[in-house]
Amino acid sequence: MDFDKKILCIGAGYVGGPTMAVIALKCPEYKVTIVDINEEKIKGWNSEQLPIYEPGLEEIVSKVRGCNLFFSADIKRGIREADIIFVSVNTPTKTFGLGAGMASDLQYWENTAQQILENSEGPKIIAEKCTLPVKTAQAMERILKTNSNGAHFEVVSNPEFLAEGTAIQDLLEPDRVLIGSHQTESGLRAAGEIAKIYAHWVPREKIITSNLWSSELSKLVANAFLAQRISSINSISALCERTDANISEIAYAVGSDRRIGPKFLNASVGFGGSCFKKDILNLVYIAESYGLSEVAEYWKMVVRINEYQHERFVASIMKAMFNTVVGKKIAIFGFAFKANTGDTRESPAKFIGRKLMEEKAILAITDPKALGNARLDLEGMDGQVTFEPDPYQAADGASAIVVVTEWDIFRELEYEKIYKNMKKPAAIFDGRNILDHQKLFELGFNVYPIGKPSLTHFE
Ligand code: NAD
Ligand code: UGA
Repeated sequence: MDFDKKILCIGAGYVGGPTMAVIALKCPEYKVTIVDINEEKIKGWNSEQLPIYEPGLEEIVSKVRGCNLFFSADIKRGIREADIIFVSVNTPTKTFGLGAGMASDLQYWENTAQQILENSEGPKIIAEKCTLPVKTAQAMERILKTNSNGAHFEVVSNPEFLAEGTAIQDLLEPDRVLIGSHQTESGLRAAGEIAKIYAHWVPREKIITSNLWSSELSKLVANAFLAQRISSINSISALCERTDANISEIAYAVGSDRRIGPKFLNASVGFGGSCFKKDILNLVYIAESYGLSEVAEYWKMVVRINEYQHERFVASIMKAMFNTVVGKKIAIFGFAFKANTGDTRESPAKFIGRKLMEEKAILAITDPKALGNARLDLEGMDGQVTFEPDPYQAADGASAIVVVTEWDIFRELEYEKIYKNMKKPAAIFDGRNILDHQKLFELGFNVYPIGKPSLTHFE
């Protein structure tokens, strides 16, 4: 079949996979190919067992795969054939050298630039989909301009705002699509080409255009603002626990102000995920590198409060369990960094699980989608841990349940049955405030929510 255009995405991960699947679904006249250096991952995308779990993804992939969506490990060919290339590779925090622990590790991104340079025979539009430090597009242009065949590459920024667990919904009905480009004739033309793709299903007024640097920086700032809201409410949850105020009542009262709004005000064990921390640290690093130390310090505190929230949660478990968990079975309900994903990157469960294992607790971890990743995350740790698909089994004989992920199934369990099979006194630490605390208390549990008075049977 002849296609109007050939789109390539480099990087078949949490962003590349779902985003391109939706583009393929909505643009049948375009051929969409996704390539990755990880051949196993490509095999997974071509199988019935996709490498990531995302509600709604399987249905879309099965509709378009083999029609106009293709997964391949042949990166060279993909680049040669493409008119438009989306770059969606990982950009983790650097762990070595200059900027270690703060700056973006751009090695994967630079490799893609080299791959594009070496394998392109003609002009192309390159769309940065990964989250990058401001002015990275310029670096990409500098690398691509060294090509010997005179081909013109126009680099645009098209950051992705999807959240895991709701990726398909977010892609089908985005709040906005952002496209940053040079304000030159060829830059605007390239932005127009990218806009044309999204215009297949996104209303035009939601497709925002800007200059390149604003687009790159907007992505970091959007994540920083979202994370800041969580750290703000979590900081107040600590105050609530000292004053008998209730964080849910406060979030409701504060969020009812339309200028503030109700979203992202759920107090929790702290945020996780591959991006919030890394993107804020990246923002901090950029601010520092421009000598803006006050700006850097301001954003650093969002990350610090998040760590404090993880630490506070573990400390409260220890205190409530008489300062020792040695040999006690503790059921961890949820290992994913949020519900509806199997992703455990930067999950608070990792920090909590490790700390409890260091304290010699016996862990039983249950999660509907993340047990495989949990196993990898705790590999090499000393101590006892089991991975249990059935939450009832995980809680059997346990002294405590620790809710770390807000999976719906944890709300719907028969806690009466669970309580009967637990060791007494039985505690529940609800790190997501998703359970009916009063009811659990009445069943006999000692209940420890976040930012609310605990309910205990002790004198
Ligand atoms: P990921 O780790 O899931 O996927 C990245 C993929 O790129 C990997 O499969 C890796 O093998 C591949 N890759 C690396 N170098 C390559 C190369 N040279 N050639 C071909 N493939 C290569 O990462 P992700 O979560 O999809 O994130 C990608 C980018 O999108 C990051 O910059 C991230 O900050 C950003 N982002 C992520 C999310 C999210 O929800 N995960 C949301 C918005 C933006
Ligand atoms: C986040 C952003 O929401 C996306 O817009 C962005 O594209 C993405 O990061 C990215 O750049 O990677 P994601 O991390 O997938 O998406 O999920 P979120 O829903 O933002 O949740 C992040 C963390 O915050 C989770 O651990 C979640 O449980 C926690 N959270 C969220 C809270 O603790 N309280 C809340 O009220 C909301």
